[in-house]
Amino acid sequence: MERETLYAIEWPGEGDEGETLRVIEPTPDEVETAAARLAAFYNEPYNRGMMANEGEMTARDVVDYYREFRASGGRPFLLERDGVLMGDADLRHIDGPTAEFAILVGVRAAQGSGLGTRFALMVHALASGALGIERMYSSVIPLNRPSLRMLEKIGYLPDDGPEARARADEATDVTVSFDFARFAELHAAVLPRLRITGRGATPPPRRVNGDPPLVADGNPPAPRER
Ligand SMILES: CC(C)(COP(=O)(O)OP(=O)(O)OC[C@H]1O[C@@H](n2cnc3c(N)ncnc32)[C@H](O)[C@@H]1OP(=O)(O)O)[C@@H](O)C(=O)NCCC(=O)NCCS
Repeated sequence: MERETLYAIEWPGEGDEGETLRVIEPTPDEVETAAARLAAFYNEPYNRGMMANEGEMTARDVVDYYREFRASGGRPFLLERDGVLMGDADLRHIDGPTAEFAILVGVRAAQGSGLGTRFALMVHALASGALGIERMYSSVIPLNRPSLRMLEKIGYLPDDGPEARARADEATDVTVSFDFARFAELHAAVLPRLRITGRGATPPPRRVNGDPPLVADGNPPAPRER
């Protein structure tokens, strides 16, 4: 069975009071542990609206979603601040040098304080390095100003080309993309502080009897939109 390296990215705090951010590609056990808190994040009404999620999710739904998502080629991440789960993010529709990015800072009180931008930067550092992605896309509902601003700060630019528009869930969505050629220069002050490490290898999740069928085209399963 093919084994896949899982990665962790750490942004150590500075001084005694600096907070340490950690982004991990979770093992199945770590997903189990995080699932109830993630379900609460997804079901929170504001978050749900921004991600255009349709239904409520249980902890079991989250575990199933993560397993199916990874089995279909997506790379999900858990986001931690000083060891406390703050949200999740993912790279989806990974296709050679391109991928899409989505993120949730699930703790409402922690939104708008810079965390989303910092976590996003950490995922992008992995995408451009170990994962070899060259261009990222994202699709956002137009009223999601925080997300649009966060993506702009990473370096995304508006993109209405066919590659980008194909990733819009709705005709009204704003589509943006980012060419990693500019990444090192844009974030030269921060990137040297990030520590990217392998966490060992894990077999990719397999379909088990009774599970819903995997998505055949390599796309992630549908339940969560962003
Ligand atoms: C989108 C999200 C990840 C951003 O993370 P965050 O920690 O809240 O955002 P940050 O604090 O890093 O940065 C947001 C930027 O948007 C700005 N912003 C916040 N609210 C804004 C608003 N209503 N209008 C315009 N800009 C706004 C912030 O001021 C900041 O920009 P600045 O640094 O220039 O001041 C987070 O808000 C979230 O998880 N939202 C719910 C789920 C979601 O929308 N996910 C993305 C779907 S594509």
